Amino acid sequence: MSELIFRPRRLRTTAALRDLVAEARLDPRMLVQPHFIVPGSGVSHPIEAMPGIDHQSVDRLVATVAGDLELGIRSVLLFGVPDAADKSPEGRSASADGNLVATAVAALKDRFGESLTVMTDVCLCAYTDHGHCGLIVDGRIDNDASLPHLAAMALSHARAGADVVAPSDMMDGRVAAIRDALDDDGLVHTAIMSYSVKYASAYYGPFREAAHSAPAMGDRRSYQMDSRNRREALIEAELDVEEGADILMVKPALAYLDVVADLAEAFQLPLAVYNVSGEYSMVKAAAARGWIDERAIVLENWHAFRRAGADILITYHGRQALAEGWL
Ligand code: PBG
Ligand code: ZN
Repeated sequence: MSELIFRPRRLRTTAALRDLVAEARLDPRMLVQPHFIVPGSGVSHPIEAMPGIDHQSVDRLVATVAGDLELGIRSVLLFGVPDAADKSPEGRSASADGNLVATAVAALKDRFGESLTVMTDVCLCAYTDHGHCGLIVDGRIDNDASLPHLAAMALSHARAGADVVAPSDMMDGRVAAIRDALDDDGLVHTAIMSYSVKYASAYYGPFREAAHSAPAMGDRRSYQMDSRNRREALIEAELDVEEGADILMVKPALAYLDVVADLAEAFQLPLAVYNVSGEYSMVKAAAARGWIDERAIVLENWHAFRRAGADILITYHGRQALAEGWL
């Protein structure tokens, strides 16, 4: 009688045995910590909806990254948050000489060299006065007119020493435009991590507060993907592969794990997930009220990303997880 019972519980008997057979493992080396850079020096002030995350000037950023490296976080993703006075219709300050992100890249590379992988977000929305990710021509977000500006922005980051540029604008053809610009400049080793599959999402709310990048009118639905679509994700990713992307990304993460699994199966490139600001803020808010166990929730989410097939986790929880010994 008992020999007829299959007993999966056998391998759950002890913690050591469970660890031995666990499929989805986590490693600090797969974490990417995002940073929001502001002008000035000595600046570090908290972003209200994202507890634990600050706006920082370059000098303070370098100090924070030094601490994070000690903890084991070896990759950063940089966002520039320029003063309102530096915004313009075409977002030119994004690629101007000595721009905020290029300055930060140079400072980080100078201090940490190859021990740190520096990634930069490439998008115009924090730099345009209208807050859209591309240029507006005749009342529309003009795809092709935006491409040279995005390429110039990526080029300025790459020239400063960025290891990876990460276009998040969702204009068609931007990966090819950026690859061309980099190659023409001899920057053949600068990698592109494409926000290949980026959905129009309410989960970006806290980020837009942080980056002061909410669109002044309209929304991003004419360029970011529709959350009702799954198959379209494969089309977007396929195009990025053809255009020369080195790493693919799905964003947001938690509500799109079907898409992560699809991409992991269909493509051989490394796959990143962006566990975005709203996902972070929800966990933080519930944890602050004692309604959930923050550590357990975060690890469960990260296991889900790994099960779905993600190789790289871009998460605001990285520093806390390592500082508190969660892994
Ligand atoms: C810029 C950009 C956004 C995010 C990353 N790059 C916002 C947006 O597209 O509106 C979101 C990141 C987050 O919410 O954590 N295009
Ligand atoms: Zn944008």
